[in-house]
Amino acid sequence: MNEASTLIEYGSPIDAQAMVTPPDATELELEPGHPGLGDEAYVRRRKGLFALCRKHRLERLGPPIIPYTPEETRIWREVSPKLDELHVKYACQIYLKAKRELAITRQEIPQLRLLSERVQRETNMHLVPAEGALPYRTFYEYIGKRGFPVTQFIRHGSHPEFTPEPDMIHDCLGHVPPLMNRDYAELLTLIGKAASTTPDPEQVLALKRFSWFSIEFGLIEEEGKTKVFGAGILSSTGEIPYALFSNDVTRRPFVTDEVIKQDYDPSRMQDHLFIAPSLPFLRRELEGLVRRFGIPVL
Ligand SMILES: [Fe+2]
Repeated sequence: MNEASTLIEYGSPIDAQAMVTPPDATELELEPGHPGLGDEAYVRRRKGLFALCRKHRLERLGPPIIPYTPEETRIWREVSPKLDELHVKYACQIYLKAKRELAITRQEIPQLRLLSERVQRETNMHLVPAEGALPYRTFYEYIGKRGFPVTQFIRHGSHPEFTPEPDMIHDCLGHVPPLMNRDYAELLTLIGKAASTTPDPEQVLALKRFSWFSIEFGLIEEEGKTKVFGAGILSSTGEIPYALFSNDVTRRPFVTDEVIKQDYDPSRMQDHLFIAPSLPFLRRELEGLVRRFGIPVL
């Protein structure tokens, strides 16, 4: 591996150095086509939460308590019961058990501060307030130190079942529950330590794909059935049935050497997925990869 090699991500060549020295967005930017663009009240709210959460992240203040508006609560109450019904049928056991223990309800948007305290008691992970999606290496730097960055804004009300960026429905109903599981927490922190330690952009990209096809969009085997494991699938009423049942999706066994070479497009439904046989399997595979890469974090 060398720094001059061209890396391909999302189908295009990328600046390899950006993988190890990520940019820092200091202002809110909604991408073209975002459903909230043009809605002044929504943009104002998002800017306010951006500034507040960024301050709390940079000054290590922990998640702020957010008084959510009736509109935000309405969106939560519309989306979370639909997801709940799908979770009961299709989510993996690690997720279901943790969601019950966290007592996340269909009625009220949870406060990250309280979730963070609960997770910390269980696995010594904590939640870091994030103003939006952080670059991969920045994101995993926090995780390597047992902090999971979580957004506190909610998607636009015109499309409650769609968000072009990770929002707190994605984070609270996808990422946070499995943080209650010790094996999951150790898997995550190892990815974090490895991704934030290696100086090699190609290795960062490989680890990013490893986490994409496990933590974000992984499937897992359970008692002979394929269950949903990844947060990106768990937080979308469209992705859950698509991932499990669509004929347009290829589902292959999780083979690390194939996973780290597999590019993807985060802006659309995922049609290449991998099925891991178990959580300990993922841990062993990750340890093998980190050793092979020579990253000194084990
Ligand atoms: Fe995510």
